[in-house]
Formats: sequence, C-alpha cells, structure tokens
Amino acid sequence: MKALVYHGPGEKSWTDVPEPKIQKPSDVVVRVDTTTICGTDLHILKGDVPAVTPGRILGHEGVGTIVEVGSAVSQLAVGDKVIISCIKSCGRCSFCQQGNFAHCLGDEGASGIGWVFGHLIDGTQAELVRVPYAETSVYKVPETVTNQQGVMLSDILPTGFEIGVQYGQVKPGDVVAVVGAGPVGLAVMATAGLYGASRIIAIDLDTNRVEEAKKFGATDGVNPASPEWKEQVMSLTDGWGVDVAVEAVGVPQTFQMCTEIVRPGGRVANVGVHGKPVDLQLQNLWIHNISISMGLVNANTTPMLLKLVASGKLNVDNFATHHFKLDEMMDAYDTFGRAAETRALKVVIDR
Ligand SMILES: NC(=O)c1ccc[n+]([C@@H]2O[C@H](COP(=O)([O-])OP(=O)(O)OC[C@H]3O[C@@H](n4cnc5c(N)ncnc54)[C@H](O)[C@@H]3O)[C@@H](O)[C@H]2O)c1
Ligand SMILES: [Zn+2]
Ligand SMILES: [Zn+2]
Repeated sequence: MKALVYHGPGEKSWTDVPEPKIQKPSDVVVRVDTTTICGTDLHILKGDVPAVTPGRILGHEGVGTIVEVGSAVSQLAVGDKVIISCIKSCGRCSFCQQGNFAHCLGDEGASGIGWVFGHLIDGTQAELVRVPYAETSVYKVPETVTNQQGVMLSDILPTGFEIGVQYGQVKPGDVVAVVGAGPVGLAVMATAGLYGASRIIAIDLDTNRVEEAKKFGATDGVNPASPEWKEQVMSLTDGWGVDVAVEAVGVPQTFQMCTEIVRPGGRVANVGVHGKPVDLQLQNLWIHNISISMGLVNANTTPMLLKLVASGKLNVDNFATHHFKLDEMMDAYDTFGRAAETRALKVVIDR
C-alpha cells in the first residue's frame, strides 16, 4: 500500500510500504477513507518531535472502514465506518477508567502516552492503518455525519473543547479570548458557546483568520500587531479583563498575552504545545487569583461532540478549506504548509 513516510527532519515521501496486519486480538485494520494533516505533523517534519523515528507513517486523524477485526473484538465488525481517535485508550487501566486517556498505560507505543498514531506507531496518512484497543479507541459514524465532519472529531474538536473550554471552566456569560485562530483555536471558539460564553474574542496576527473566526462563533476580533491590541481587548470586557484566556499558539509571547488580558479571578487555559520555557510573572500574577491549566487532549468528549455534529448543533464544515485525493498527499502537505498564503485551515484528503 501507499503511505506518507517520515524519513527524518525535512524528509518525507508518499511511498510503498507493507500493509498493516492484526498484531493483537484487540486490534482492527481500517481502510482510511478520509484523513487530514495537523500542525503537529509539520512540527514532526521540522524535527521538533524526536520520538518520531525515520520510517514512521505520519497522521493521527482519520475516518475509515474496518476491513479486519482481531479475535477479541466483538463490538465492531468488518464494514463499520469509524472515526479514529488521535488518542489510544485501552479502556482498562487506571487512567482510562478516570477518562484520562492521554495517559493510557496500555503498552502499545509506550505505556503512559495516549498519543501514539503517527508518533510511536504507524499513523493514518496511509491506505490502511492498524488500530490497537479498537473497541475503546474508535467511534462508529452515524449516517448523518459525513467523513469531512467526522475527521474533525479525531483531534481538533476534542482538543479545543477539553483543553480550552473545559479546562478554562467557561461558564454562562463569560467573556472568552482565544489567542491563535488556527484550526485548534477555532475549535475552542466553535465549542465555547456550548457553555454559554457571551463574547468570544479571536486574537491572531493573520487578518484573514480573525475574519474567518466569525464563522466559528467569534463575536469580535483583535490583531495583536496593533499597539493598542490590549486596550481593544479590555474595551470588550467590563474593563477588568476576560474571564478566560485560551492560548492556542504555543510560543512564550502568546502565553504572556493571555496572562495580561485575564481578569483577577480568571483562568488561563494553555492549549498550545510549547518548545521553550515561558517566563511566568508570578510576582505580579499571584495577587490576581488566576488559575492556569494545560494538558494533552484526552479525547474523552468525542462521543458527546459527535452527537452534537450528528444533530446539526455543531457546524464543523467550515474547517474544510481544501480537498485532495490520498495520492495527492504531497500536494496536500504543500498547501497546508503554506497556510498563511493558501488560507488553508484543514485539508481534507479522501481515498
Ligand atoms: N494540547 C493538545 O492536546 C494539543 C492538541 C493538538 C494541537 N495542539 C497545539 O495547539 C496549537 C494550535 O494548533 P493549530 O493547528 O491551530 O496551529 P496553527 O499553527 O494552525 O495556528 C496558530 C495560529 O497562531 C497565530 N499566531 C502565531 N503567532 C501569534 C502571535 N504572536 N499572536 C497571535 N497569533 C499568533 C498564527 O497566525 C496561526 O493562525 C499548536 O501549538 C498545537 O501543537 C495541542
Ligand atoms: Zn493533531
Ligand atoms: Zn488505558
């Protein structure tokens, strides 16, 4: 079969690899019908994630059809269409039992690390993928949900909702600012309304993305390139700052921005993956009673989010900006890698 293989920093190809086989009784093999590319895949290609070794098939998002089931699988069958979660869950370990799938102790990939696809085991940017712990790591797709909608539930929607909205403890009436209007930040904006945010402020250097954010629930937009950006944000609050500031970029500057616009008693929810330490101004912040949260997505809200998508309560079609076929994978990477130019949000790659 063909797959997108990582060959080391800066090197990848769409190439022939052996087909995956069932290795353990709880595995299934899925024919990938739709996949996409994540910013994390670009980080891997830059060499920022050294745990990914040459030869690895990338990708941790996908919708597909089961073509083979292991002997212990009884709740899934050949022919089922499923969403593959970006996080494995054995369903049995102490972390999984608490809904902390991000730290699943199952030994697939590595014990204690939930994100394994396209990281520690082969991923979804391929014609076929082996899915471990299948019964607790995939979700059957209802007939009313399209592949393009389903693939947004593998990673970005649960990430934005869990690590941005839930960890940020968004409450009815809250003013929420989201720094970073990429797919993940937009997923925060798209789900902040579920908990009753009264105002959602999109903050991004990319004017196009600030504008796009309105389609995802943002009520206001601010460009931090403006010297008055902070005053602009404050003027959208009662003057004391936002109730919840969500960081969805992953650099020290944007984390700092969040701590500058949050009100006393408010919350900063960090979603971004950071590669450098941030300078936490505790000497100023302690007296403001601020809570700071962070985390790797558990993807334990996927079934709930799937219900909302299926019933039409959560519109996710606007994430899909470009469409490719699997054998155009290299073009899809090129388009996604130049998102500022191409205005790509999510590239949808179909079989
Ligand atoms: N915590 C998790 O489990 C988890 C899961 C998935 C992704 N992530 C992380 O979430 C973050 C966002 O992901 P994405 O795919 O949306 O990324 P992205 O790169 O598409 O979007 C980031 C956005 O930030 C904007 N930006 C950059 N510098 C800025 C600045 N100084 N001020 C304001 N805006 C700025 C960019 O213009 C861009 O629109 C990444 O760090 C990603 O690794 C975390
Ligand atoms: Zn991802
Ligand atoms: Zn587990």
